[in-house]
Amino acid sequence: MRLLFVGDVVAEPGLRAVRLHLPDIRDRYDLVIANGENTTGGKGLCRKHYRQLRAAGVDAVTLGNHAWDHKEIYDLIETEPILRAANYPPGTPGRDHLVLEAAGERLLLFQLMGRVFLEPNLDSPFRVADRLLATVEADHTLVEVHAEATSEKYALFHHLDGRVAAVLGTHTHVPTADGRISRRGTGYLTDVGMTGTYDSIIGGAVGTFLQRFLTARPQPFRSAKGPAELWGVELELAGGRAVRLSPYRWQEP
Ligand SMILES: [Fe+2]
Ligand SMILES: [Fe+2]
Repeated sequence: MRLLFVGDVVAEPGLRAVRLHLPDIRDRYDLVIANGENTTGGKGLCRKHYRQLRAAGVDAVTLGNHAWDHKEIYDLIETEPILRAANYPPGTPGRDHLVLEAAGERLLLFQLMGRVFLEPNLDSPFRVADRLLATVEADHTLVEVHAEATSEKYALFHHLDGRVAAVLGTHTHVPTADGRISRRGTGYLTDVGMTGTYDSIIGGAVGTFLQRFLTARPQPFRSAKGPAELWGVELELAGGRAVRLSPYRWQEP
């Protein structure tokens, strides 16, 4: 199974990158998954933008800590291939995993959200992963770790090493250069990086975002405008393992 995982699609430049470029490369992959937690103005995902991601060739959309920022998600998440983190409390809207079928195989996809510097009230991502792996049958498993702390991401990778095909990090919006496949066949990358404009502070407009740090007071969030980049990871999975993991980058001409 060949798949592309697209890192957090942030605001208009991120959506533009997906819409401009993904259709050109879509047929290289059996599945395309994108993180859409920041697609609508940097916060959340509305119906119109979800449809645009799908029309460009995205098969499933994952969320994160910004999952609930746009109220339209509450309808979409019940029926569409949209995934919130699995370690929310019982009763949270949406599903804790998806099973996606492509190329005659079944991919189990779930997202774990970090608790360190992010959402301390969530259930343990370690134990939630154990539960899902014990209860859902699939040919391959892809785990997205949406977390702030690199240590927590690496801890989850080692907890899942040899049990899943890949563990991919999101949320920091900054791509890391540590992509690898472990001896046990688990692909890992601490952060895929964002799809958006890097002429920004993690997708936010420099002017207002910088003022947060200079004034130590809250400032209104504005998403940045600028040249768009698509960042993702290409994965090839076979026999429940990763056999290729390659970062993918496209820059708007
Ligand atoms: Fe996030
Ligand atoms: Fe994000």
